[in-house]
Amino acid sequence: MRAAPGPTRLPQSLLVLGGTSEIALATARRLITRRTRTVWLAGRPSPALEEAAAHLRTLGADVRTVPFDALDPESHETALGKVFAEGVIDMVLLAFGVLGDQAYDEREPLNAVRVVRTNYTGAVSAGLVAARSLQDQGHGSLVVLSAAAGERARRADFIYGSSKAGLDTFAQGLGDALYGTGVHVMVVRPGFVRSRATAGREAEPLAVTPEEVATAVELGLRRRSETVWVPGVLRLVTSVLRHLPRAVFRRLPLYCGSGQRRRGGPEPSRWWSRGPALPQRGHPGHRTRRPRSHGSATPAGPAHRKPASPQARKPTITRSS
Ligand SMILES: NC(=O)c1ccc[n+]([C@@H]2O[C@H](COP(=O)([O-])OP(=O)(O)OC[C@H]3O[C@@H](n4cnc5c(N)ncnc54)[C@H](OP(=O)(O)O)[C@@H]3O)[C@@H](O)[C@H]2O)c1
Repeated sequence: MRAAPGPTRLPQSLLVLGGTSEIALATARRLITRRTRTVWLAGRPSPALEEAAAHLRTLGADVRTVPFDALDPESHETALGKVFAEGVIDMVLLAFGVLGDQAYDEREPLNAVRVVRTNYTGAVSAGLVAARSLQDQGHGSLVVLSAAAGERARRADFIYGSSKAGLDTFAQGLGDALYGTGVHVMVVRPGFVRSRATAGREAEPLAVTPEEVATAVELGLRRRSETVWVPGVLRLVTSVLRHLPRAVFRRLPLYCGSGQRRRGGPEPSRWWSRGPALPQRGHPGHRTRRPRSHGSATPAGPAHRKPASPQARKPTITRSS
């Protein structure tokens, strides 16, 4: 067993799960400029994975790739076992994930399941395997890329958000389970990040770059933080939003789903992906108070709605992230 990383708490060796993730690669680049010397990029085999490895090598790191598929939990023991068998790993960065396409996934449940299986089921499996290996070593950090979108269900991206909520809860519990073992679990909650995943989507206020997430990860490692918000002010913003009554929250522009789909992507589904579902004032269906839904998630039908104006449908704050 080797001693824990030095006083800086930054890793000498790094394993990235989701080896082509832009956020992960920005983090790897930053850590290589500090003290990281060995990097494993685990991901689905592709030219992009090899190119990412080649680029990190030019920065002076010893970089290797290993096949890893989040959707194949049965293979995780073998994939990660191979890496840990080669040497000590000071940090595992759980970075894989898919945003999905909310409107499309609502109509295609199997796609929704794929989002959830990747972001949640795959992360539970890989997270547990990584945690056990780190615990066997007696030290290390497991850094989990969660998302601010998991804080509260939003009409615009609740499939993705629910998968991140599950991941976040899992990672918090894992951190508590490993407390005192020498293994540190850090949950990172970025808002909107301008990366490949959000390409073609409208950037929002408080949007950050992958490099800004990397900076926050480094700071969190130095402080041995358990939770990191990126940007930091998001913690305050989500804290306010979390406590808004649902009747108010669902009227917020960010609740509206139309701006969430990719440009050129499928149209929002007729029933679920329109703007606010409340009947409009003056319409026969309008009531001063909305009747209780008795738990039904189905909004009022199209007959009760006017399409929202483009302005009203514009999200104003962190959406899928
Ligand atoms: N971008 C944002 O706004 C944002 C905000 C908050 C949190 N996050 C989270 O941050 C993480 C990284 O996001 P990013 O912005 O860096 O996106 P990205 O560049 O699109 O990276 C996503 C990564 O996930 C990998 N992946 C997807 N499905 C996989 C599977 N079945 N098995 C293995 N790897 C798989 C991709 O690999 P392939 O190359 O094989 O596709 C890629 O490496 C994600 O978990 C995301 O949810 C992103």
